[in-house]
Parts: sequence; structure tokens; C-alpha cells
Amino acid sequence: MGDHIRLIDQRRLPEELVLVEVHSIEKLCELISELAIRGAPALGAAGAMGVALAWVQGRGMVETASLLKATRPTAVNLAWGVDRALAAGDPVAEAVQIAVDDVALNQAIGAHGTAVVPDGARVLTHCNSGSLACVGWGTALGVIRSAHVAGRQPSVWVDETRPVLQGARLTAWELQQLGIPATLVVDSMAGSLMAAGKVDLALVGADRIAANGDVANKIGTYSLAVLARHHHIPFYVAAPTSTIDPATPAGSHIVVEQRSDSEVVEVGGVRLAPEGMIAQNWAFDITPAELVTGYITEEGISGRIH
Ligand code: MRU
Repeated sequence: MGDHIRLIDQRRLPEELVLVEVHSIEKLCELISELAIRGAPALGAAGAMGVALAWVQGRGMVETASLLKATRPTAVNLAWGVDRALAAGDPVAEAVQIAVDDVALNQAIGAHGTAVVPDGARVLTHCNSGSLACVGWGTALGVIRSAHVAGRQPSVWVDETRPVLQGARLTAWELQQLGIPATLVVDSMAGSLMAAGKVDLALVGADRIAANGDVANKIGTYSLAVLARHHHIPFYVAAPTSTIDPATPAGSHIVVEQRSDSEVVEVGGVRLAPEGMIAQNWAFDITPAELVTGYITEEGISGRIH
């Protein structure tokens, strides 16, 4: 970053790896809203860089902060990154520090998380919590990556993650790059896989963890947690401590982003449902703390937030 921000346009993956240069706050807000950049820790870094860009351009930083925060309400890391840069004497240095720290934090999450990945574990994951969702390494996918590097030989069931297909497009692509064995499944296959004894643990990221341990993550996560409990399969959440929001007492207080129904009635611009069909598109759901086996953060693994 200097007078612009460079980021991977995740909408173009897996077809092509394209970097875009961002020169205005309006463009950054548009890219965040359209999921060109997405994933809680990546949004934290992008938010901080947005404030830094405003500072470099001599633009109102408080106004910029509220524009950025309004783009996506659920991932607390976005507001966290914006506020950190806003409070810093040098927002550029702060934004760069957030980016550098993110990779180290994720590697620490991975190192701790390897302890819950048995040899040859078959891990089910949802959405994308890898390098793309962060600045590097990844959170839940980072744990799988660390376990792979440690020789645990994990394999991954990748939920396709309707409607935006972060699993099929992004997680599948990342796992291929890393050479980690992975199999793509439709989201609704998770229960059958568990019943067939083919899942050893479920591992997901988080967009916000309330003070009581309730977890907001990609829609479909709650169903997985219920299924995992029914089948006595461990269900772990991996996230940096910046995803824990002490100001939100419980999941019921978390604002769940509602996205356009076009993401549901169309796939890749091709209409699936009949004209005039209405749809609901809740981007996230809330998993109650009681369904979470453990939280893996850069500080270690805990069964409870408090
Ligand atoms: O709508 P998205 O793609 O931004 O949702 C992302 C997720 O739900 C991830 O699981 C979460 O941000 C954790 S990423 C390390």
C-alpha cells in the first residue's frame, strides 16, 4: 500500500488469479460488498487499509470509517480493523502491521489446532477460511494446512457452500494449490457423510464470536454443528481473538447480513428459479456455544470463551 491498495479479486477465482488496484474508498466499499474481498480477517485488513488510504488522500477518516463498516455488518473484524487504523497515529503503518500480524496469528492458530487433528483425519469444513479469507495461511483451513505440514495427512470434505460457493470455488482451489487431498460435496451431504462414519471432525472459521461463545459464521454452519453433535463428532471453531466481540453478549445480538436474493435464484448469472420467485438470503447463521467443542485461537484451545 502507498497511494493504493492491491487485492485478489476473489470473484474471478478459480478461473483466474487477478489482482485489482483500488484507488478510492467508494471502489473499496463496492469490492467488499460484492465479495471481491471477503472472509473476516481479510476484511479486517482491508478495512484498516481503507482508513489508511483515506488518511493518505486527506479525506475525512470518520466518514470513511462509517462507509466501510456499513458494507458488511456481521464480520466484527471489519469494524475492528477500521477502528484500529482510525485510532493510530500512522494509519498506514497500522494497516501494514495488521496484515503482517495476521499471518503470524494464523500460524499460531494452526500450530495449536494441529493437536485436535488426528493422523489421517477426515475433516469437514464449510465456506472458505483459508489464505484468501485472511492475509495469509488461514484460520480453520490454516489448522488443516498446519496439520498437513506436520505430517498428519489430513483429507478434507469441502462443503460447496451455497449460494456463493466459497467452498467449491475458493477452498477447493486453495487445497489443490497446497496438495492436500480434498473432495467436494454438496452442503446437504454432510449428515449422510457423518452417519456413514466418514467424518472425524468438523472445523470452521467465524465472523463474530459473542461474549458467551455463540458463533456467527457462513449460513449452514449451525446445521453442521447440530449434525456433528448428533453423531458425536468434535466441532471446532478456529479464529483469531480479534473475532471475539466482548461488546456482543450473545448470538441473538449479532446482525446477520441479508444479501440479494439474486445470489439464490441465479448461479453465475444463470437463472435457476422461475421469474418472480422470491428468495431469502441470510448470509450467516448463529451456532450456540453449547454445540462448540472448542475454540482455537492464537492463544491456544479453549472449551469456553470465559
Ligand atoms: O460471506 P463471506 O465469504 O465473507 O463469509 C466468510 C465466512 O463465513 C468465513 O467462514 C469466516 O469469515 C471465517 S474466514 C477465516
